[in-house]
Amino acid sequence: MRKIVLFGSNGQVGWELQRSLPLLGNLVVCDRSKVDLSDLDAVSAYLRQERPDIIVNAAAYNAVDLAESFEEDAQKINCYLVKVLAEYAAVNNAWLVHYSTDYVFNGESNLPYTEADAPNPLNAYGRSKAQGEHAVVASGCNHLLLRTSWIYSARGRNFAKTILRLAATKTSFSVVDDQTGAPTSASLVADITALCLYRILNSTNSENLSGTYHVVASGYASWYEYARYLVSEAVSLGVHLNCTEHDIRAVSGSEYPTKAIRPKNSRLDNSKIQNAFNINIPDWKIYINRTLSDIARQDDYVS
Ligand SMILES: NC(=O)c1ccc[n+]([C@@H]2O[C@H](COP(=O)([O-])OP(=O)(O)OC[C@H]3O[C@@H](n4cnc5c(N)ncnc54)[C@H](OP(=O)(O)O)[C@@H]3O)[C@@H](O)[C@H]2O)c1
Repeated sequence: MRKIVLFGSNGQVGWELQRSLPLLGNLVVCDRSKVDLSDLDAVSAYLRQERPDIIVNAAAYNAVDLAESFEEDAQKINCYLVKVLAEYAAVNNAWLVHYSTDYVFNGESNLPYTEADAPNPLNAYGRSKAQGEHAVVASGCNHLLLRTSWIYSARGRNFAKTILRLAATKTSFSVVDDQTGAPTSASLVADITALCLYRILNSTNSENLSGTYHVVASGYASWYEYARYLVSEAVSLGVHLNCTEHDIRAVSGSEYPTKAIRPKNSRLDNSKIQNAFNINIPDWKIYINRTLSDIARQDDYVS
């Protein structure tokens, strides 16, 4: 049976991949307790020991603002690690699935970005992810390089959980209204990954499917619109909050300065993957209720 090794198995996407990937083969999960991924010799030794047919890398250095001060730390995980995985895949004829981000683009375009657009990141995190993308392509390995955006899940830290906590503890708050993107459920990313791998594993010319794809929910919203939707849905689900969506104020990014500059337009065109793999990617609102109910059931979401 084919062997799949999953790195970053405790992250938002990694956790959902633990659910979707076992359908495809023998899944071996690797979290920090097994290998510190900044130790590249340990990573190489682990790959030689496990000999995977498919490597799925959901691990990342995702602290966008911290990366401005610790760019080398971000590069270690987002680029040097990825180079080791890609070179192993190239030499051993394995497939590599790796995730990247809307933050590889500068967001100056008025249109959704396509896979043909050239990366031009605004911040250190985006630079490290763009370098990781380059390492995958330069290795020549068979790959799925999946760019996603604005991930949420009931697990880990994300915008949806922050908004629910603010709405439960404050009577009003402000959210940025001049950055747009597609809120994307970690479970959607995991399901699409499994569907694409299934197609690849059952294709006679699977190399033709190797490439970069945008894996985001359809449609888009600003952070402000997304926050209002989250709160209104939480209210209709009966979650006890201190305010409603009408108590959320729209502000511009310039009123909410952060260490790392964010792109204004984070929209990614997802038509390439829909066409190449014959799949339908639903609107971003589709999975929100489900995750909101999961978050609201957690005792600690307000802390
Ligand atoms: N989150 C977003 O909004 C977003 C947006 C666009 C693209 N992406 C991309 O999507 C992918 C998945 O993101 P995510 O949100 O699921 O990430 P996440 O929740 O932050 O998970 C990242 C995982 O990487 C692991 N990791 C980091 N450094 C490690 C190390 N030195 N050794 C071992 N494990 C290490 C973490 O382990 P610990 O749990 O032990 O810390 C964590 O489980 C990433 O490639 C990310 O860049 C995410």
